[in-house]
This record gives sequence, structure tokens and C-alpha cells, in this order.
Amino acid sequence: MIRLKNFTELNDEEMILVWQWRNDKRVNQFMHTKNFDLKKHKNFIQSLKQDKTKKYFLVFNDEEAIGVIDFIHINQQDCYFGLYAKPDLKGMGQVLMDEVKKYAFEILKVEKLKACVLKQNKKALKLYFKNDFQIDKEDENFFYIILRNSIS
Ligand SMILES: CC(C)(COP(=O)(O)OP(=O)(O)OC[C@H]1O[C@@H](n2cnc3c(N)ncnc32)[C@H](O)[C@@H]1OP(=O)(O)O)[C@@H](O)C(=O)NCCC(=O)NCCS
Repeated sequence: MIRLKNFTELNDEEMILVWQWRNDKRVNQFMHTKNFDLKKHKNFIQSLKQDKTKKYFLVFNDEEAIGVIDFIHINQQDCYFGLYAKPDLKGMGQVLMDEVKKYAFEILKVEKLKACVLKQNKKALKLYFKNDFQIDKEDENFFYIILRNSIS
């Protein structure tokens, strides 16, 4: 069973696990923010308690932590999402994507789900296009992709 655990409720062990994944080169190379120390990571998690525009979740499949999904710039109309799978795990992208769509459209109830993806991130783009995201605009390095809520 898939379960989401809010970053604000993570224990120390889980916080460190996420920090290790996030600084793993296989994840980090596709992220906007690069290496950061554990103190900064913990301060960021602490700051989420007061920030209604951001939500971060550690995703579990039964007892196993499989990845992270996040939502930023949340407002009534739209939000941006991010996701990454635990390094070494394969095939978790669709599981994470399903949770992103469910949370965005059923809990946040946004009309549009957006992301900014590095053009060289082929695995992520393959996943997003498979899930009907479309390119809204692009620049030299990024595709800005968008998915409209099909049930609203
Ligand atoms: C994005 C991510 C969650 C996708 O996970 P996934 O869909 O489970 O894919 P995997 O990592 O298991 O990679 C295998 C898939 O990528 C495809 N792939 C691998 N290299 C590829 C390439 N160069 N071009 C196109 N497709 C490629 C494989 O065909 C396979 O697709 P399939 O499942 O349809 O057969 C995962 O790769 C990840 O965490 N990446 C690092 C963080 C990241 O980039 N996050 C997104 C930021 S926008």
C-alpha cells in the first residue's frame, strides 16, 4: 500500500535518508538546488511547518521508502511539482507520478499541474509525456510542462 509521510513529520533517520538521496549524483544532477549540508536540510524541513505554499512527502510502498514528491508555488489555480525515486530503485516513476496527480487534483484541487524539466532529463520527460503532460514553453535548457485536470 502506498502512503505519504509529510516531511514535517519525518524522524531523524528518515530526514537523513532523504538528504542522502537528494545529494546522490543520480538525483542531484537534475535538481535546481545542488549540494547542501544536513543542517541546511533540517532547517528547510523545519521551515515547511510555516509555509503553506510548499508540501513535501516521503512516499512509502508498505514499509519501504521509495521516493519523494513535492509541490511548490501552491495557489488555488496551480502548483509546480517535483519527484525523485530512491537511487537504485527502477520503475518507481509511475507510482510517484500517480501520487502527484492524486494529491494535486484531489487534495490541493488545482486546475493545472506544472513542472520545469531539464531538457537532458530523458527519463523524467518520458514519464511526463506518458502521463499526458504537454510542453507549455521552453528555453535553452528547460521544458516548462503542464497537465490540466481532466475532471474539472
Ligand atoms: C524521474 C524518475 C522518477 C523516473 O523514474 P522511472 O520512470 O521509474 O524510470 P527509471 O529511473 O526506472 O528509468 C527507466 C525508464 O527510463 C527510460 N530511459 C532510460 N534512459 C533513457 C533515455 N536516455 N532516453 C529515454 N528513456 C530512457 C527507460 O526506458 C525506462 O522506461 P520504461 O519504464 O518506460 O521502460 C527517476 O529517474 C528519478 O528519480 N530521477 C532522478 C530525479 C529526477 O530527475 N526527477 C525529475 C526532475 S524534473
